[in-house]
Amino acid sequence: MITLEDFDTYPDFPVEGILFYDIAPILASPERFREACIQLMPPRDAQVDIVAGVDARGFIFAPVVAQTLDVGMAMVRKAGKMPGVDLLESSTEIEYGSRDLAVSAGSIEGRHVLVIDDVLATGGTARAVAQMLERGGAASVRFSFLIEIGDLPGRDALEGYAVTSVVVV
Ligand code: PRP
Ligand code: MG
Repeated sequence: MITLEDFDTYPDFPVEGILFYDIAPILASPERFREACIQLMPPRDAQVDIVAGVDARGFIFAPVVAQTLDVGMAMVRKAGKMPGVDLLESSTEIEYGSRDLAVSAGSIEGRHVLVIDDVLATGGTARAVAQMLERGGAASVRFSFLIEIGDLPGRDALEGYAVTSVVVV
């Protein structure tokens, strides 16, 4: 079982007032890393056709889960990194500037998508991803996070979506 003790914590990073939960100790241990990927798996009855990893730290876990489920993986990338014209794009205002994301539309239409990221905090990123995937015709969207910050409104931002969080703090 992954627990809060498996994360390192850094107060006031990246900005004052934020407690940063670092996944590095989990990645450094093959047993912990494997266990984290197992716990990120959706429930057995969940329908998943593709796993979408969110740039950057979602990219670490999403491929392992996709391979375990024997489905493909889509990259939800930060802006300006995706070639081609067949893109779904999303722009969200955050505290400093905006967060721009993109995914290849061809991997999403008609698919049941499992979105994986390391942290659910305000839910702004995840909600923007869900809306982008739905605009692209996703059949359903569900989420798995390694850690959910319970005193932030991430859960509320994802109301109506199935959410799995390995650890809630
Ligand atoms: C972090 C984290 C999530 C997001 C959660 O990503 O990895 O993706 O913030 O925050 P929210 O719920 O308030 O939207 P960030 O873009 O900071 O860094 P990364 O590129 O290292 O993943
Ligand atoms: Mg991130």
